[in-house]
Amino acid sequence: MTARPAGNPVQERALQLGIDLARLPVHVALIMDGNGRWAQDRGLSRLAGHAEGHLALRATLVAASELGIRYLTAYGFSAENWRRPDQEVSGIMEVIANAASEETQSLIENNVRARLSGRIHEMPAEVQERLRSMEAQTSNCTGTQLILALNYGGRAEIVDAVRLAVERGLSVDEDDFRSLLYLPDVPDPELVVRTSGEVRLSNFLVWQSAYSELVIRKENWPEFGADGLLASVLEYQQRDRRFGGLSGEETERPGLL
Ligand code: FPP
Repeated sequence: MTARPAGNPVQERALQLGIDLARLPVHVALIMDGNGRWAQDRGLSRLAGHAEGHLALRATLVAASELGIRYLTAYGFSAENWRRPDQEVSGIMEVIANAASEETQSLIENNVRARLSGRIHEMPAEVQERLRSMEAQTSNCTGTQLILALNYGGRAEIVDAVRLAVERGLSVDEDDFRSLLYLPDVPDPELVVRTSGEVRLSNFLVWQSAYSELVIRKENWPEFGADGLLASVLEYQQRDRRFGGLSGEETERPGLL
């Protein structure tokens, strides 16, 4: 194993923490939980928590990109989140729409490609428009890919794939099935991180996380940022990934590109 030298301050900090830059996860997926509790603890509105959640996502993306993470998926709005009060749902939609417009230029400057996963077509027209515009304007960026999972449900994604298979009259094996998911070219996340101490997947990447390492962080999402990301990657690297084989064995990663 060759120790890779640091190329920037985030990598420098990673090396100081003992992270091996040659063994980074390619894809990190984030369940951004605890915006409401973060706000409540400070006597702020839940929407102020979501606005802070946007800033935390920006900080985490910058760190992930500098660290060398290729894919970062963020669970921004679940298919179940529509059950929240109307005022909160419309406030979150506003945060998402504004984030899409405000961040596009900076994504381009940082060579970050933004992609969307979920039943985007069911979101409010104005929000869809801004998201699609961000996606189109960053489509030629070749650095880190930021995948926003919005109106996303893991079971819905599987049902949508089954519908496609039926429509096309396909009989599928695991590889064919994967090709029917929302973003088939994106490799499975090696690491799924959830903030705010909850220990659940909550319908996130149900198919793709079959072999993911789960890291649960105590802090609420607005406090995650670069430090939370580095601590999560370190914990991931301390795990023994066996994929159904035995410890220390050379095992194939099943179902990965
Ligand atoms: C969880 O906190 C967060 C959400 C339900 C989604 C909102 C996320 C953001 C606004 C972050 C930015 C996202 C984008 C796409 C720009 P919670 O409300 O469940 O917190 P709680 O469990 O403390 O109530």
